[in-house]
Amino acid sequence: MTGRVFPREFLWGAATSPTQVEGNTVNEWASFIARDGSTPDEGGDHWLRFEEDASALTRLNLNSYRLGLDWGRLQHGPYHDLDETALDRYRQMLSCLRTRGVKPMITLFHFACPYWLAARGGWLAPDSPELFADFVNRLLQAGIESEHWITVNEPGVYVTMAYLMGLFPPRKRFNFFSAAKALRNLVTGHILAYRLLKARNHSAQVGIAKHFKRAIAHRSWHPLDRLSAFIIRHFFARRILHAFTFYEGDRVADFIGMNFYGKLRVQGFRDISPISGDPGGYLGRNGLLCDDMWEQDAGWLPECVAEVQAETGLPVYITECGFATGEERLRSLLLYEHLRAVEEALRRGVDIRGFFYWSLVDNFEWAEGLEKKFGLLGIDFTHPERPRTLRPAGTLLSRVAASGKVSS
Ligand code: BGC
Repeated sequence: MTGRVFPREFLWGAATSPTQVEGNTVNEWASFIARDGSTPDEGGDHWLRFEEDASALTRLNLNSYRLGLDWGRLQHGPYHDLDETALDRYRQMLSCLRTRGVKPMITLFHFACPYWLAARGGWLAPDSPELFADFVNRLLQAGIESEHWITVNEPGVYVTMAYLMGLFPPRKRFNFFSAAKALRNLVTGHILAYRLLKARNHSAQVGIAKHFKRAIAHRSWHPLDRLSAFIIRHFFARRILHAFTFYEGDRVADFIGMNFYGKLRVQGFRDISPISGDPGGYLGRNGLLCDDMWEQDAGWLPECVAEVQAETGLPVYITECGFATGEERLRSLLLYEHLRAVEEALRRGVDIRGFFYWSLVDNFEWAEGLEKKFGLLGIDFTHPERPRTLRPAGTLLSRVAASGKVSS
Protein backbone atom coordinates (compact mmCIF):
# COMPACT_ATOMS: atom_id res chain seq x y z
CA MET A 1 0.00 0.00 0.00
CA THR A 2 1.46 3.40 -0.91
CA GLY A 3 -1.31 5.86 0.08
CA ARG A 4 -2.02 7.62 3.35
CA VAL A 5 -2.92 5.17 6.11
CA PHE A 6 -3.34 7.60 8.99
CA PRO A 7 -6.57 9.56 8.65
CA ARG A 8 -6.30 13.33 8.07
CA GLU A 9 -7.91 14.10 11.45
CA PHE A 10 -5.39 11.86 13.28
CA LEU A 11 -3.77 13.69 16.21
CA TRP A 12 -0.01 13.83 15.89
CA GLY A 13 1.55 15.13 19.02
CA ALA A 14 4.07 15.08 21.80
CA ALA A 15 3.40 14.99 25.54
CA THR A 16 4.80 16.47 28.75
CA SER A 17 3.71 16.87 32.37
CA PRO A 18 4.11 20.09 34.37
CA THR A 19 6.40 18.82 37.14
CA GLN A 20 8.72 17.19 34.64
CA VAL A 21 9.30 20.18 32.40
CA GLU A 22 8.06 23.48 33.79
CA GLY A 23 10.62 24.31 36.49
CA ASN A 24 9.89 26.51 39.52
CA THR A 25 7.90 23.63 41.00
CA VAL A 26 5.02 24.50 43.32
CA ASN A 27 3.94 21.04 44.45
CA GLU A 28 5.07 18.13 46.60
CA TRP A 29 7.94 17.34 44.18
CA ALA A 30 9.68 20.67 44.81
CA SER A 31 12.05 19.23 47.41
CA PHE A 32 12.47 15.84 45.73
CA ILE A 33 15.99 14.70 44.93
CA ALA A 34 16.23 11.98 42.30
CA ARG A 35 18.58 9.00 42.20
CA ASP A 36 21.02 10.96 40.03
CA GLY A 37 20.98 13.90 42.48
CA SER A 38 18.92 16.19 40.24
CA THR A 39 15.74 18.10 41.11
CA PRO A 40 12.79 19.10 38.90
CA ASP A 41 13.88 22.76 38.97
CA GLU A 42 17.15 22.04 37.21
CA GLY A 43 15.16 21.05 34.11
CA GLY A 44 14.28 22.80 30.91
CA ASP A 45 12.17 25.81 32.06
CA HIS A 46 9.24 25.00 29.79
CA TRP A 47 7.12 27.43 31.84
CA LEU A 48 9.29 30.31 30.67
CA ARG A 49 10.24 28.92 27.25
CA PHE A 50 6.83 27.63 26.24
CA GLU A 51 6.58 29.77 23.10
CA GLU A 52 9.92 28.46 21.84
CA ASP A 53 8.82 24.85 22.46
CA ALA A 54 5.44 25.48 20.84
CA SER A 55 7.14 26.72 17.71
CA ALA A 56 9.01 23.41 17.58
CA LEU A 57 5.64 21.61 17.54
CA THR A 58 4.69 23.47 14.38
CA ARG A 59 8.09 22.82 12.79
CA LEU A 60 7.56 19.13 13.52
CA ASN A 61 4.14 19.13 11.77
CA LEU A 62 2.45 18.15 15.02
CA ASN A 63 -1.19 19.19 15.31
CA SER A 64 -1.65 18.39 18.99
CA TYR A 65 0.15 18.78 22.30
CA ARG A 66 -0.59 16.91 25.52
CA LEU A 67 0.25 19.20 28.43
CA GLY A 68 -0.77 19.29 32.07
CA LEU A 69 -2.11 22.10 34.23
CA ASP A 70 -0.41 21.90 37.59
CA TRP A 71 -2.94 21.78 40.40
CA GLY A 72 -0.43 23.04 43.00
CA ARG A 73 0.57 26.03 40.90
CA LEU A 74 -3.04 26.93 40.27
CA GLN A 75 -4.63 26.42 43.67
CA HIS A 76 -2.94 27.25 46.95
CA GLY A 77 -5.40 25.79 49.43
CA PRO A 78 -8.54 23.67 49.67
CA TYR A 79 -11.47 25.27 47.86
CA HIS A 80 -9.41 28.43 47.21
CA ASP A 81 -9.81 30.66 44.19
CA LEU A 82 -7.33 29.86 41.44
CA ASP A 83 -4.10 31.84 41.24
CA GLU A 84 -4.70 34.51 38.58
CA THR A 85 -1.06 34.76 37.51
CA ALA A 86 -0.74 31.03 36.91
CA LEU A 87 -4.12 30.96 35.21
CA ASP A 88 -3.10 33.75 32.85
CA ARG A 89 0.11 31.99 31.91
CA TYR A 90 -1.77 28.76 31.15
CA ARG A 91 -4.30 30.79 29.12
CA GLN A 92 -1.40 32.26 27.13
CA MET A 93 0.03 28.79 26.54
CA LEU A 94 -3.28 27.41 25.33
CA SER A 95 -3.88 30.32 23.02
CA CYS A 96 -0.30 30.09 21.71
CA LEU A 97 -1.08 26.49 20.74
CA ARG A 98 -4.41 27.37 19.14
CA THR A 99 -3.01 30.19 17.05
CA ARG A 100 -0.53 27.67 15.67
CA GLY A 101 -3.29 25.20 14.83
CA VAL A 102 -2.16 22.83 17.60
CA LYS A 103 -4.98 21.22 19.62
CA PRO A 104 -4.30 20.88 23.33
CA MET A 105 -5.00 17.65 25.19
CA ILE A 106 -5.06 18.66 28.85
CA THR A 107 -4.02 16.41 31.76
CA LEU A 108 -5.41 17.37 35.16
CA PHE A 109 -3.51 15.10 37.56
CA HIS A 110 -0.08 13.77 36.66
CA PHE A 111 1.58 12.29 39.77
CA ALA A 112 1.79 15.59 41.69
CA CYS A 113 -0.31 16.75 44.65
CA PRO A 114 -0.33 20.37 45.80
CA TYR A 115 1.55 20.84 49.10
CA TRP A 116 -1.63 21.44 51.03
CA LEU A 117 -3.22 18.26 49.69
CA ALA A 118 -0.07 16.25 50.47
CA ALA A 119 -0.30 17.62 54.03
CA ARG A 120 -3.87 16.24 54.27
CA GLY A 121 -2.69 12.81 53.08
CA GLY A 122 -2.86 13.31 49.30
CA TRP A 123 -5.33 10.97 47.64
CA LEU A 124 -5.86 9.23 51.00
CA ALA A 125 -7.73 12.30 52.26
CA PRO A 126 -11.42 11.38 52.44
CA ASP A 127 -12.42 14.55 50.57
CA SER A 128 -9.66 14.29 47.91
CA PRO A 129 -12.17 13.48 45.12
CA GLU A 130 -14.28 16.53 46.00
CA LEU A 131 -11.17 18.73 46.23
CA PHE A 132 -10.13 17.58 42.77
CA ALA A 133 -13.62 18.19 41.43
CA ASP A 134 -13.53 21.69 42.91
CA PHE A 135 -10.24 22.37 41.09
CA VAL A 136 -11.71 21.15 37.80
CA ASN A 137 -14.87 23.16 38.31
CA ARG A 138 -12.87 26.34 38.90
CA LEU A 139 -10.85 25.75 35.73
CA LEU A 140 -14.09 25.50 33.79
CA GLN A 141 -15.46 28.63 35.43
CA ALA A 142 -12.24 30.39 34.47
CA GLY A 143 -12.97 29.54 30.85
CA ILE A 144 -10.29 26.89 30.30
CA GLU A 145 -11.43 24.77 27.38
CA SER A 146 -10.21 21.78 25.44
CA GLU A 147 -11.62 19.19 23.07
CA HIS A 148 -9.61 16.48 24.84
CA TRP A 149 -9.10 16.01 28.56
CA ILE A 150 -7.23 13.43 30.60
CA THR A 151 -8.42 13.50 34.19
CA VAL A 152 -5.76 11.24 35.74
CA ASN A 153 -2.47 9.98 34.38
CA GLU A 154 -1.57 6.35 35.13
CA PRO A 155 -3.40 5.86 38.43
CA GLY A 156 -2.00 2.34 38.84
CA VAL A 157 1.60 3.46 38.42
CA TYR A 158 1.04 6.40 40.75
CA VAL A 159 -0.26 4.36 43.68
CA THR A 160 2.37 1.66 43.13
CA MET A 161 5.25 4.13 43.17
CA ALA A 162 3.82 6.21 46.03
CA TYR A 163 2.54 3.48 48.37
CA LEU A 164 4.16 0.19 47.40
CA MET A 165 7.64 0.97 46.07
CA GLY A 166 8.41 4.19 47.94
CA LEU A 167 9.73 5.95 44.85
CA PHE A 168 7.26 8.87 44.63
CA PRO A 169 6.04 11.11 47.46
CA PRO A 170 4.95 10.16 50.11
CA ARG A 171 7.48 7.32 49.63
CA LYS A 172 5.62 4.54 51.46
CA ARG A 173 6.53 0.91 50.91
CA PHE A 174 4.31 -2.16 50.80
CA ASN A 175 1.33 -0.21 52.06
CA PHE A 176 -1.33 -2.12 50.18
CA PHE A 177 -4.15 -0.65 52.20
CA SER A 178 -3.17 2.92 51.29
CA ALA A 179 -2.59 2.02 47.63
CA ALA A 180 -6.11 0.59 47.39
CA LYS A 181 -7.64 3.54 49.19
CA ALA A 182 -5.84 6.13 47.04
CA LEU A 183 -6.92 4.25 43.93
CA ARG A 184 -10.54 4.28 45.05
CA ASN A 185 -10.38 8.02 45.61
CA LEU A 186 -8.74 8.54 42.23
CA VAL A 187 -11.59 6.62 40.60
CA THR A 188 -14.15 8.81 42.38
CA GLY A 189 -12.19 11.96 41.49
CA HIS A 190 -12.11 10.86 37.87
CA ILE A 191 -15.86 10.22 37.78
CA LEU A 192 -16.67 13.59 39.35
CA ALA A 193 -14.33 15.36 36.91
CA TYR A 194 -15.74 13.42 33.97
CA ARG A 195 -19.26 14.54 34.82
CA LEU A 196 -18.26 18.18 35.27
CA LEU A 197 -16.36 18.29 31.99
CA LYS A 198 -19.19 16.64 30.09
CA ALA A 199 -21.82 18.86 31.71
CA ARG A 200 -19.89 21.90 30.51
CA ASN A 201 -19.36 20.61 26.98
CA HIS A 202 -20.98 17.39 25.97
CA SER A 203 -18.82 16.97 22.89
CA ALA A 204 -15.54 17.25 24.85
CA GLN A 205 -13.69 13.93 24.87
CA VAL A 206 -12.67 12.89 28.37
CA GLY A 207 -10.56 9.89 29.36
CA ILE A 208 -7.67 8.73 31.50
CA ALA A 209 -4.14 7.84 30.45
CA LYS A 210 -3.42 4.27 31.41
CA HIS A 211 -0.05 2.58 31.44
CA PHE A 212 0.30 -0.53 29.28
CA LYS A 213 3.17 -2.95 29.52
CA ARG A 214 3.10 -6.56 28.47
CA ALA A 215 3.70 -8.59 31.62
CA ILE A 216 5.34 -11.93 30.92
CA ALA A 217 6.77 -14.69 33.09
CA HIS A 218 10.53 -14.66 32.50
CA ARG A 219 10.69 -18.41 33.20
CA SER A 220 7.55 -19.55 31.46
CA TRP A 221 7.52 -22.78 33.50
CA HIS A 222 7.90 -21.16 36.92
CA PRO A 223 4.69 -20.90 38.99
CA LEU A 224 5.81 -17.75 40.82
CA ASP A 225 6.77 -15.89 37.63
CA ARG A 226 3.47 -16.92 36.08
CA LEU A 227 1.51 -15.86 39.13
CA SER A 228 3.05 -12.39 39.28
CA ALA A 229 2.59 -11.86 35.53
CA PHE A 230 -1.05 -12.89 35.96
CA ILE A 231 -1.59 -10.51 38.90
CA ILE A 232 -0.12 -7.60 36.96
CA ARG A 233 -2.17 -8.38 33.85
CA HIS A 234 -5.36 -8.94 35.74
CA PHE A 235 -5.14 -6.17 38.30
CA PHE A 236 -3.13 -3.54 36.47
CA ALA A 237 -4.47 -3.95 33.02
CA ARG A 238 -8.06 -5.16 33.46
CA ARG A 239 -9.43 -4.09 36.83
CA ILE A 240 -8.04 -0.57 36.74
CA LEU A 241 -9.09 -0.05 33.14
CA HIS A 242 -12.60 -1.14 33.97
CA ALA A 243 -12.88 0.95 37.14
CA PHE A 244 -12.04 4.15 35.25
CA THR A 245 -14.29 3.35 32.31
CA PHE A 246 -17.58 2.06 33.73
CA TYR A 247 -19.44 3.00 36.87
CA GLU A 248 -22.69 1.28 37.88
CA GLY A 249 -23.44 0.46 34.28
CA ASP A 250 -22.65 3.98 32.98
CA ARG A 251 -19.71 4.79 30.76
CA VAL A 252 -17.39 7.31 32.47
CA ALA A 253 -14.77 7.71 29.73
CA ASP A 254 -14.97 8.61 26.05
CA PHE A 255 -11.59 7.22 25.08
CA ILE A 256 -8.67 5.29 26.47
CA GLY A 257 -5.35 7.07 26.56
CA MET A 258 -2.73 4.39 26.16
CA ASN A 259 0.77 5.05 27.51
CA PHE A 260 2.56 2.25 25.71
CA TYR A 261 5.80 1.16 27.35
CA GLY A 262 6.90 -2.24 26.08
CA LYS A 263 7.45 -5.28 28.18
CA LEU A 264 7.63 -6.17 31.85
CA ARG A 265 9.53 -9.40 32.40
CA VAL A 266 8.96 -10.77 35.87
CA GLN A 267 11.10 -13.22 37.78
CA GLY A 268 9.36 -14.10 41.03
CA PHE A 269 8.11 -10.69 42.17
CA ARG A 270 11.05 -8.85 40.57
CA ASP A 271 10.83 -6.82 37.43
CA ILE A 272 13.82 -7.60 35.21
CA SER A 273 14.46 -4.49 33.20
CA PRO A 274 17.41 -2.18 32.67
CA ILE A 275 15.94 0.26 35.19
CA SER A 276 15.73 -2.35 37.94
CA GLY A 277 19.38 -3.20 37.43
CA ASP A 278 18.66 -6.09 35.03
CA PRO A 279 19.82 -8.79 37.45
CA GLY A 280 22.54 -10.84 35.85
CA GLY A 281 22.53 -8.67 32.72
CA TYR A 282 20.14 -11.12 31.13
CA LEU A 283 18.51 -8.66 28.73
CA GLY A 284 21.75 -7.31 27.34
CA ARG A 285 23.39 -10.73 27.05
CA ASN A 286 20.45 -12.07 25.14
CA GLY A 287 20.34 -9.19 22.72
CA LEU A 288 16.80 -8.12 23.64
CA LEU A 289 15.88 -4.67 22.42
CA CYS A 290 15.94 -2.22 25.35
CA ASP A 291 16.29 1.49 25.97
CA ASP A 292 17.86 2.75 29.20
CA MET A 293 14.72 1.85 31.12
CA TRP A 294 12.74 -1.00 29.63
CA GLU A 295 12.58 -3.87 27.20
CA GLN A 296 10.68 -2.79 24.09
CA ASP A 297 7.91 -4.66 22.33
CA ALA A 298 6.42 -2.69 19.42
CA GLY A 299 4.97 -5.85 17.88
CA TRP A 300 2.51 -6.15 20.77
CA LEU A 301 0.87 -2.80 20.08
CA PRO A 302 -1.81 -3.82 17.54
CA GLU A 303 -2.97 -6.70 19.72
CA CYS A 304 -2.91 -4.61 22.89
CA VAL A 305 -5.04 -1.85 21.35
CA ALA A 306 -7.44 -4.34 19.79
CA GLU A 307 -7.97 -6.04 23.17
CA VAL A 308 -8.57 -2.76 24.98
CA GLN A 309 -11.02 -1.75 22.34
CA ALA A 310 -12.86 -5.03 22.48
CA GLU A 311 -13.12 -4.74 26.27
CA THR A 312 -14.21 -1.12 26.49
CA GLY A 313 -15.75 -0.34 23.10
CA LEU A 314 -13.81 2.95 23.18
CA PRO A 315 -11.39 4.58 20.75
CA VAL A 316 -7.74 4.73 21.73
CA TYR A 317 -5.19 7.52 21.63
CA ILE A 318 -1.58 6.54 22.17
CA THR A 319 -1.07 9.29 24.74
CA GLU A 320 2.56 8.34 25.43
CA CYS A 321 5.17 6.31 23.63
CA GLY A 322 8.80 7.22 23.99
CA PHE A 323 12.31 6.01 24.69
CA ALA A 324 15.01 6.97 27.15
CA THR A 325 18.33 6.66 25.40
CA GLY A 326 21.46 8.55 24.52
CA GLU A 327 21.73 6.62 21.24
CA GLU A 328 19.85 8.49 18.57
CA ARG A 329 19.87 5.65 16.06
CA LEU A 330 18.15 3.46 18.63
CA ARG A 331 15.53 6.13 19.43
CA SER A 332 14.74 6.52 15.73
CA LEU A 333 14.61 2.77 15.18
CA LEU A 334 12.25 2.27 18.11
CA LEU A 335 10.04 5.16 17.04
CA TYR A 336 9.92 3.79 13.50
CA GLU A 337 8.92 0.34 14.77
CA HIS A 338 6.18 1.74 16.98
CA LEU A 339 4.80 3.92 14.19
CA ARG A 340 4.76 0.85 11.94
CA ALA A 341 2.85 -0.99 14.65
CA VAL A 342 0.25 1.81 14.85
CA GLU A 343 -0.04 1.73 11.07
CA GLU A 344 -0.50 -2.03 11.19
CA ALA A 345 -3.24 -1.67 13.82
CA LEU A 346 -5.05 0.89 11.64
CA ARG A 347 -4.85 -1.46 8.69
CA ARG A 348 -6.49 -4.14 10.83
CA GLY A 349 -9.34 -1.71 11.48
CA VAL A 350 -8.55 -0.76 15.06
CA ASP A 351 -9.75 2.70 16.09
CA ILE A 352 -6.60 4.65 17.03
CA ARG A 353 -7.06 8.41 16.85
CA GLY A 354 -3.72 9.84 17.82
CA PHE A 355 -0.07 9.27 18.66
CA PHE A 356 1.84 11.39 21.18
CA TYR A 357 5.57 10.92 21.58
CA TRP A 358 6.88 11.08 25.16
CA SER A 359 8.35 13.58 25.53
CA LEU A 360 8.55 16.80 23.55
CA VAL A 361 11.67 17.88 25.45
CA ASP A 362 14.11 16.15 27.80
CA ASN A 363 12.39 15.95 31.15
CA PHE A 364 12.78 15.20 34.84
CA GLU A 365 12.14 11.48 34.91
CA TRP A 366 10.72 11.36 38.46
CA ALA A 367 12.82 9.11 40.74
CA GLU A 368 15.40 8.73 37.94
CA GLY A 369 15.95 12.45 37.45
CA LEU A 370 17.32 14.36 34.49
CA GLU A 371 19.72 11.64 33.36
CA LYS A 372 17.17 9.74 31.27
CA LYS A 373 16.82 11.39 27.87
CA PHE A 374 13.37 11.05 26.34
CA GLY A 375 13.05 14.26 24.30
CA LEU A 376 12.40 14.83 20.64
CA LEU A 377 14.30 17.97 21.53
CA GLY A 378 17.39 17.44 23.65
CA ILE A 379 18.13 20.09 26.29
CA ASP A 380 21.55 21.06 27.56
CA PHE A 381 20.78 21.30 31.28
CA THR A 382 24.26 22.59 32.07
CA HIS A 383 23.77 25.75 30.00
CA PRO A 384 21.95 28.70 31.62
CA GLU A 385 19.91 29.28 28.43
CA ARG A 386 18.85 25.60 28.29
CA PRO A 387 19.34 25.36 24.49
CA ARG A 388 17.19 22.82 22.64
CA THR A 389 18.47 20.58 19.83
CA LEU A 390 16.22 18.66 17.49
CA ARG A 391 16.94 14.94 17.48
CA PRO A 392 16.66 12.72 14.37
CA ALA A 393 13.58 10.98 15.80
CA GLY A 394 11.86 14.38 15.66
CA THR A 395 12.58 14.61 11.96
CA LEU A 396 11.22 11.10 11.48
CA LEU A 397 8.01 11.88 13.36
CA SER A 398 7.49 15.11 11.42
CA ARG A 399 7.87 13.27 8.11
CA VAL A 400 5.32 10.63 9.07
CA ALA A 401 2.92 13.23 10.47
CA ALA A 402 3.08 15.22 7.23
CA SER A 403 2.73 12.27 4.84
CA GLY A 404 0.26 10.18 6.86
CA LYS A 405 2.22 7.01 6.22
CA VAL A 406 5.31 5.27 7.51
CA SER A 407 7.50 4.35 4.58
CA SER A 408 10.06 1.59 4.90
C1 BGC B 1 4.55 8.79 32.77
C2 BGC B 1 5.56 9.87 32.50
C3 BGC B 1 6.95 9.28 32.50
C4 BGC B 1 7.03 8.27 31.37
C5 BGC B 1 8.38 7.60 31.24
C6 BGC B 1 4.84 7.50 32.08
O1 BGC B 1 4.74 6.45 32.98
O2 BGC B 1 3.26 9.26 32.50
O3 BGC B 1 5.41 10.87 33.46
O4 BGC B 1 7.96 10.24 32.36
O5 BGC B 1 6.10 7.27 31.59
O6 BGC B 1 8.66 6.90 32.41
